[in-house]
Amino acid sequence: MNKNEVKELLGVRGAEQEALFRLARGLRRQHFGDQAVVRGVVEVTSACVRSCTYCPMRVENQFGRYLLTSDELVESARRVFASGVPVLSIQGGEIPKTTKIVGEAIRRIRDELGHQLEILLVLGDKSHDEYRHLKDVGADSYILKFETSIEELHERHRFYPLADRVAAIKSLTDLNFKVGSGTIVGLPGQTVEQLADDLMFARSLGLDMCSASPFIPAKNTPLANEPMGDFQTTLNAIAVTRILLPKSLIPAVSALQKYQAGGQVAGLDAGANVITVNFTPNKDQSDYPIYGADRFVVGLRHAIHTLKRGGLASGLIDDANTIRGSLAEACT
Ligand code: 5AD
Repeated sequence: MNKNEVKELLGVRGAEQEALFRLARGLRRQHFGDQAVVRGVVEVTSACVRSCTYCPMRVENQFGRYLLTSDELVESARRVFASGVPVLSIQGGEIPKTTKIVGEAIRRIRDELGHQLEILLVLGDKSHDEYRHLKDVGADSYILKFETSIEELHERHRFYPLADRVAAIKSLTDLNFKVGSGTIVGLPGQTVEQLADDLMFARSLGLDMCSASPFIPAKNTPLANEPMGDFQTTLNAIAVTRILLPKSLIPAVSALQKYQAGGQVAGLDAGANVITVNFTPNKDQSDYPIYGADRFVVGLRHAIHTLKRGGLASGLIDDANTIRGSLAEACT
């Protein structure tokens, strides 16, 4: 598929859009059957050194910045595991300190649970040596979104060169991480053609995981009054990603739920196969301002219910405790 075809597909609606989604679901079924992946995310810190225009965690903003300890991360990993969720995602703003704290936690989680949990990191740009350290202590995978593949837009919204971000993605690939990346759909100033460029770029990176999530105007950012990214275009971007990277993990992001109840089911119907449940300690959740204070926080129950509506199995770990059974029951 070439860029012009991608651009055309991003714009289809009605019967053609239905056909696009059917094709995407068919490819998903071919590579994954009816099996989805549930991840448990723990947001390790709301501190960040960056100034991304769209992000309320940007360094200029003053709010309760927190940083979990290694103990709290290990405790969170136990909760994720006890819920039967097979992937722990440790995510946070970009600060140097996370290398040490998260590295220490990973060591202890590996000691305690072996390789029963996949450990996925979403911690921003770090040096090759820091990434190597995190891989050495036992991390499996890393997501570093390029956000936009257009140099000028990247510079305008993120204040540093796209090439640096791409070099970091290459570092992760070289270190044998399973690598994820992705794009923001409808970033102010982005054209459909540029979104097509993003998806072609994602394919060229040969990613294991790839997201397309809509731009959400967040309070306390320079983009607070800009329009949201288009919902239908985001769904089409998910479906096209499924075609370009058929074996990849593609999330039905929580931002889809901001448009309408069932927004994430629509993401699954467009070919996504991942849903992320929030396991951040309650005391810190309100200090993680991604998408603003009124973000949609996904619970395990919502995730299982959503997957069921999308016709997908949750793949929770079988011998985990009874939470799983009782939740499944509550969702029938
Ligand atoms: N709209 C959409 N995505 C956003 N992110 C941060 N702020 C926004 C926003 N306003 C996304 C970025 C980042 C991820 C953690 O959250 O893509 O990589």
